[in-house]
Amino acid sequence: MTDDALVPKVSHLTYDSYLKVHDLLDLQDLQSDPQQHDEMLFIIIHQVYELWFKQILHEVDGMLAFIDQDKPLPFVKSLKRVVRILDVLVHQVDILETMTPIEFDRFRALLNPASGFQSHQFRVAEYSLGIRDKVYLKYHETNPVGFAAMKAAIERPSLWDRVVAYLHRVGINVPQSVLDRSVQEPWELNEDLARELGAVYRQLDERYHVYTILESLLDLDQKLCLWRYRHVSMVERIIGITRGTGGTHGVEYLSRTLSKRAFPEIWEARQHIITNLGAPE
Ligand code: HEM
Repeated sequence: MTDDALVPKVSHLTYDSYLKVHDLLDLQDLQSDPQQHDEMLFIIIHQVYELWFKQILHEVDGMLAFIDQDKPLPFVKSLKRVVRILDVLVHQVDILETMTPIEFDRFRALLNPASGFQSHQFRVAEYSLGIRDKVYLKYHETNPVGFAAMKAAIERPSLWDRVVAYLHRVGINVPQSVLDRSVQEPWELNEDLARELGAVYRQLDERYHVYTILESLLDLDQKLCLWRYRHVSMVERIIGITRGTGGTHGVEYLSRTLSKRAFPEIWEARQHIITNLGAPE
């Protein structure tokens, strides 16, 4: 390699122009006047979450294509990246908890009726993974871009629909009713499918790659649950059990979301692994 190879090609691109740093640093529009110190943190943390949500959706789009094309290796690679991002999202809640209830109260009323509840990217992520509740669409009717993205996500087969179709292609006995389901509808737990997945865990030598896919999906689902738990616990710490700016009953509503699962049969399979362990075949 000559020294010339180290000289960048002539380009007008700079760090700032490539990353649009000036635009980025101009996006924090505080509502408080006089400015409340903690509002900057509140805005930046939400913006960072939205950027990571964007990256998650980008990865999920890749995963949908990989699994449709029977490419489990790049699928799992992207999946593991999403899990790492979720790790960061869970830990970021710690930063927000350095804001006390009084500090939040100094600007909270100014946010009304805005709320994370209106994050369309969060709903697109839920819909894309397989958590499908049409009720959320109506909260986004005044946000055409978000509404269109949610509608597109709920109208196509979810990640779980596609993984299950893949499992069928590689010889797992997936019930026909699951393969024929109407993809827009909420997923209903299928006990027969859970039993088949339970069997995978008892045939590791023959089914190791399916096992790896299932466990990596479980990592993702578990991290999403962890995020929900960290979020609701932080909410209780900062605003107690008061109503949210989005109009729900706050902690009471959020606590009900803790039972949501994107891949319920992988959790349910545990019943079948354990009850069958040691049982005569
Ligand atoms: C002081 C900080 C925060 C408080 C007090 C808070 C409070 C709440 C409350 C009460 C809800 C329920 C909906 C409502 O009535 O508003 C909610 C929902 C939500 N929040 Fe937060 N939040 C905070 C920070 C965040 C952050 C940093 C994010 C990151 C994007 C976030 C994302 C969400 C999402 C996605 C929902 C919808 C959850 C669901 O419906 O399953 N929140 N939040």
